[in-house]
Amino acid sequence: MTLRINPSILASDFANLEAELGRIANADMAHVDVMDNHFVPNLTLGLPIVARLQEVSPIPLDVHLMIDDPDRWAPSYAETGAASVTFHAEAAADPRALARALRDRGARAGMAIKPGTAAEPFYELLPELDMLLVMTVEPGFGGQSFIESTMPKLRALRDEVGRRDLDIWLQVDGGINDDTIGIAAEAGADVFVAGSSVFGAEVAAEQVERLRTLAGE
Ligand code: DX5
Ligand code: ZN
Repeated sequence: MTLRINPSILASDFANLEAELGRIANADMAHVDVMDNHFVPNLTLGLPIVARLQEVSPIPLDVHLMIDDPDRWAPSYAETGAASVTFHAEAAADPRALARALRDRGARAGMAIKPGTAAEPFYELLPELDMLLVMTVEPGFGGQSFIESTMPKLRALRDEVGRRDLDIWLQVDGGINDDTIGIAAEAGADVFVAGSSVFGAEVAAEQVERLRTLAGE
């Protein structure tokens, strides 16, 4: 299984985003957290900034939409050329149609679930998705502690994906660091988002490689 490390630029210097992307050019994708102050109690950045990041980023963008009404807004993020666009299951009115709209626009279709959201009701949707994001913190802020009680859900998803022989990435996001990445890898994650662990390191690119090793690659 190919493992991917996607640093979250939420923990980077927002006054120097192009340079910050340059610090993680050895990573697989740059994770961009879009928050609308409605779905989550925090506000970050939106479509015009994502469109510019897409133009200057040395690596593909992995856009994580923590917003209400993704049915309306998510397709525009796919149109920026972002490689992956993830909406929240809790916010989408019609996740199946939305996933198709993202794929139609050339993006990988991702769907996220919060720590308290069960995965089973969405198993039937898995063939429509390219990635399922199991949040390992409550969405909204970087620097929180990994919620280990989400691991059985991740493991069950890995089993289900295997049973159905699906080609779908399982992403974890929140509290991923030297101590927790192995736990998530062992439970079946193959895409690891890390914000403070990577951008808090003196040499971010070295921390990306350290996480890769700790994940088992
Ligand atoms: C939280 C965001 C995460 C965040 C992770 O709502 O979705 O992507 O940046 O930050 P760390 O790795 O610091 O927990
Ligand atoms: Zn995120």
